[in-house]
Amino acid sequence: MNKTILITGGAGFIGSHVVRQFVVNYPDYKIVNVDSLTYAGNLENLIDVEDAPNYIFEKVDITDRPRLRELFERHRPEGIIHLAAESHVDRSISDPLAFVNTNVIGTVNLLEEARSLWDDFEGKRFHHISTDEVFGALGEHGLFTEDTKYDPHSPYSASKASSDHFVRAYHDTYGLPIVITNCSNNYGPNHFPEKLIPLCISNILQNKPLPIYGDGRYTRDWLYVIDHARAIDLVFHRGQNASSYNIGGFNEWTNIDLVKELCKQMDEKLGREAGTSERLITYVKDRPGHDIRYAIDATKINAELGWKPSVTFQEGLSATIDWYLSNTEWLKKVTSGEYQRYYVEHYSK
Ligand code: NAD
Ligand code: TYD
Repeated sequence: MNKTILITGGAGFIGSHVVRQFVVNYPDYKIVNVDSLTYAGNLENLIDVEDAPNYIFEKVDITDRPRLRELFERHRPEGIIHLAAESHVDRSISDPLAFVNTNVIGTVNLLEEARSLWDDFEGKRFHHISTDEVFGALGEHGLFTEDTKYDPHSPYSASKASSDHFVRAYHDTYGLPIVITNCSNNYGPNHFPEKLIPLCISNILQNKPLPIYGDGRYTRDWLYVIDHARAIDLVFHRGQNASSYNIGGFNEWTNIDLVKELCKQMDEKLGREAGTSERLITYVKDRPGHDIRYAIDATKINAELGWKPSVTFQEGLSATIDWYLSNTEWLKKVTSGEYQRYYVEHYSK
């Protein structure tokens, strides 16, 4: 083993694809997945790599400083790829402190442990995974670049912006080697069914309403999760120190058009009459502080590192639906027990 990399949040949606990307492609690395297994974390997401000789799971909460210290001393990682977070905007509206604890305090705990472990910074890197939501909302035109000013609106995006600032501060103050990636909305296998795409897939399967917030004209830029994992691999290995990279699909959809496209593909795959799923669309009360439009300019990562999305949206969405149709047990399991689907009565009109 020539390098130990600690990946936080590896049992979650994006983290599980990042863990797989590294375990499979870097047999010489030791990959330590650090995850506290909240409602959003699920080790079944990693069942195909759990016995790999270069993979270790550690159930640790990043807000627990003594446990984190013990973990750093035992594994002595050279690299940290930090994804652990509370990630759902709606939940951040009802419980902002959970977002402060994990996303801000948890990130600073990790930075502190890296700072105290690393005597010299040669060959070390702290890669922080962030979101385009830190940039706020776009109007009809324009794209977020790496130079766009931060202007977060939701408690989620405010907590992510805060953690990004701390990561930069640790570079500027202590010289910690860091890199930050800001990615647009992801979709794909293992996506927790509280986010728009998997929620709608799950509800179509159960003939339940498809909740569209407000007028449905809100716009997001969607990227297939495996393309995000590939981008993280590239930036972790080849990105410039102290730099940030935007990652996005050049793939904007209004929520209503996206859900209609999803309904069309689901009807075809389920052998249902065209229009069946669309009839489930239900307009509901808007999310407070709802950002109108996000869209990423991914020119820098393309020009510097040659990254671009590998699948079209039609291909990615089709593969995603197929995954959910083949994994109905996974869906049932993650939506039962501890988890209560977040969309509740106060969001219905
Ligand atoms: P997710 O909610 O699916 O997974 C988060 C993971 O973090 C879970 O496995 C959870 O158990 C773990 N976790 C939460 N709190 C923890 C704690 N205190 N200690 C240890 N582990 C903890 O999230 P995701 O969608 O996979 O997002 C991963 C990262 O990517 C987040 O930092 C998020 O802000 C960022 N991001 C997400 C998107 C997106 O579209 N989902 C887009 C851009 C950036
Ligand atoms: P979401 O998947 O929660 O991601 P984010 O808020 O991080 O972008 O939501 C994507 C978009 O879909 C966002 O504009 C809110 C909207 N939305 C709905 O209209 N209905 C829903 O049930 C959900 C969960 C989201």
